[in-house]
Amino acid sequence: MCGIVGYIGRKTAAPIIIKGLKKLEYRGYDSFGIATIGSGIEICKHAGRISENARSALHLNGTIGIGHTRWATHGVPNDINAHPHTDCKNRIAIVHNGIIENYAILKRQLIARGHRFLSETDTEVIAHLIEENYKDNLLSAVQNIVPKLQGSFALLVISPEEERIIAARNASPLVIGIGDGEYFAASDMTPVLEYTERAVFLEDGDIASLSPANLEIYHGEKRVERSVELVDWSVEDTRKGGFAHYMLKEIYEQPQAFYDSTRTLDQETLPASVKKTSSVAIVACGSSFHAGLIFKYLLEETCGIPARIEYASEFKYFPPPVSCLVIGITQSGETADTLTALKQAKSHNCPTIAITNVPGSSVSRIADTTIFMRAGPEISVAATKSFIAQLAVLMQLVNLRSGEQFTKVLLHAHRAIEEVLLMDLSDAVSACKQAQSIFYVGRGPFYPVSLEGALKMKEISYIHAEGYAAGELKHGPFALLSKDTPVIAICMPDETYGVMISNIKEMKARGAPVIALGIEGDSELADIVDIFIPLPKTHKFVQILTSLVVFQLLAYHTAVALQRDVDKPRNLAKSVTVE
Ligand code: F6R
Repeated sequence: MCGIVGYIGRKTAAPIIIKGLKKLEYRGYDSFGIATIGSGIEICKHAGRISENARSALHLNGTIGIGHTRWATHGVPNDINAHPHTDCKNRIAIVHNGIIENYAILKRQLIARGHRFLSETDTEVIAHLIEENYKDNLLSAVQNIVPKLQGSFALLVISPEEERIIAARNASPLVIGIGDGEYFAASDMTPVLEYTERAVFLEDGDIASLSPANLEIYHGEKRVERSVELVDWSVEDTRKGGFAHYMLKEIYEQPQAFYDSTRTLDQETLPASVKKTSSVAIVACGSSFHAGLIFKYLLEETCGIPARIEYASEFKYFPPPVSCLVIGITQSGETADTLTALKQAKSHNCPTIAITNVPGSSVSRIADTTIFMRAGPEISVAATKSFIAQLAVLMQLVNLRSGEQFTKVLLHAHRAIEEVLLMDLSDAVSACKQAQSIFYVGRGPFYPVSLEGALKMKEISYIHAEGYAAGELKHGPFALLSKDTPVIAICMPDETYGVMISNIKEMKARGAPVIALGIEGDSELADIVDIFIPLPKTHKFVQILTSLVVFQLLAYHTAVALQRDVDKPRNLAKSVTVE
């Protein structure tokens, strides 16, 4: 859950690393640090964000450097716990993304052997272990200590005694960008895109040595070749492009993300395991779980294929699925719980499919088959375009399994999304921004839409929000309804309409203001609610998408009105690589 960047080449390393870390701030931003090889190891590290303190690191000299932006796990975010960490003699500097699970015992042993620790982090043990093993070859020292580490790590190591960076990976992402006489190492491609689109994605167990002229990769001790891939993400996608926040830009990119992502699959490219499966289990977390839940409704209703869904973190507490297709949904491709659930499914001989947005991500190395959506890089912590792109892929799966009943619907869906982007939600924003708590309710597939609406609202506005199946509210939460607790109800003209109207009246009778999403021209609904948000008249699949986009915009504008840090909400990181 941290971001790391390394550079080796002819240019001054610090500005490149600073720029790269800013691109990775979505992975963590409570402190940052950079080490370069100038006159010895030069280090600058601080609590706070690189985007606000970049100048402090500009003085660092040298053409070799490593940097880190942190999401604290072991030890509070302060200057000392910020990476890079060094050994006792200041001969080695390291940055680390991941968790060393056996650090406590290693630390005790190292202290007993005379090492002095400065920080509370798990990471510092790695620097001291390398120190003990370092004679004249940094690569060998790292190769020697890696087997002692339990847990996850993407590591970059430098020493003033060698003109190279050593990189090591186990269960945390690490990509090497290949430039002209220069190499980059990073947690993902976003810091690298500006310089090169050629990249090598390291495998678990790989250790690489990067010098200005050469890249050598070892798997343990054995020299290996890894293929060079071309990553066709555009550098423009990693810039704000005139928008106030990445989140708003990414919301506006959704028509394209949806259109492109439905095109990842057709009858020919549909994986054989999907073609023949008669049951499905879905594992995912957060927003991806909500996408999976919407998929479950559509798949069961449309294709009659039973689907079970579990939070990936809970999957291990249930009996394993028997011979069914297990689909892991994870936009980052790095969510630890989802990776673990897929590994578990594989160990029970279930075929597995991953749906992800990030080329080279860990999940694609675990699942039998990976479907890449085409949302492009998503920088804002809150998932928006990656979520809509997940739905594009999942709706296309439903379409292909149902004999292509929805091809036309999917082909034109992006137009309806474009339409709702222009809606004026100011009345609803005014109602939400002063609320203590907000309920989102819907029925059928609009129930998971409510869950997602509430998640978006709470994570970026910090207003307590809960998604509920509309029928459930009277089984307890009614006690919380008051004039300060708006209810946002999705009320579409389908088989749930009548009962939704009754539910809304019940909520109104208990004093809650009701904001309703319905279809334009629905005067019956508009007359009984406080604020009516009309959506274009479309197919149910598209109503799901347009409702979601309205909820994203509502959360966004409410968060902006409350002056929240929209792209980097407190305590969160985009990629959750710990269980
Ligand atoms: C919410 C959000 C998170 C993620 C969750 C899973 O906006 O982004 O809830 O959906 O952390 O992440 P992935 O999809 O990367 O597995």
